[in-house]
Amino acid sequence: MKLIVGLTVLLSAVALISADLECSIPLDEKAEIPQGWINMTQVCTDALKKQIQTEIGASYEYLEMAAYFSQDVVNRPGFAELFFKSAREEREHGIKLIEYLTMRGGNLQEGVHKLISVPYKEEKYEIKFDGVSALKHAVEMETAVTKSIRALIETCENDNNDYHLVDYLTGVYLEEQHKGTRELAGKLTTLKKMENSHGKLAEFLFDKQL
Ligand SMILES: [Fe+2]
Repeated sequence: MKLIVGLTVLLSAVALISADLECSIPLDEKAEIPQGWINMTQVCTDALKKQIQTEIGASYEYLEMAAYFSQDVVNRPGFAELFFKSAREEREHGIKLIEYLTMRGGNLQEGVHKLISVPYKEEKYEIKFDGVSALKHAVEMETAVTKSIRALIETCENDNNDYHLVDYLTGVYLEEQHKGTRELAGKLTTLKKMENSHGKLAEFLFDKQL
């Protein structure tokens, strides 16, 4: 009996403490934070948001390619792994830019979900690709991403001399883009050369190498 009474008292005490700890600040109440430190312009912010969508979009495309090569009827595990890795990298690029944007106090009032939603694109490449056309598509995609980063750099430099962002994009993003694109271009050359001498066997051998 004493045990039951003790437990009841304990549970009541816990309930009271929990009620005290409940947050009573309404969710829509905004803290009054000085805004002077937020110095990215709207034009630059919008361009950065667009780049986030581009990175996430590239991640989806790589995922689609990886899934294609993973199928039992295609069975190219090397290509699948290469494109799964690329999809993870592009997603990581998107995340890094989101972190940058929020570090600079980027305005997300129009909805966070819009930041990572990618406009639906009609299928724009042949889904039944072989190794060569997949690598070719990857090089073209990386070239488009590089072009888009360069445009973002230009926008943020011209609009507000935002050298911190420009430096980050030039030093981190462009460096990775150039290296990654060169790697893909090299792979494409090797596979094409192998196909010239080994015909259809080349893709099988190349996939093993990957
Ligand atoms: Fe990227």
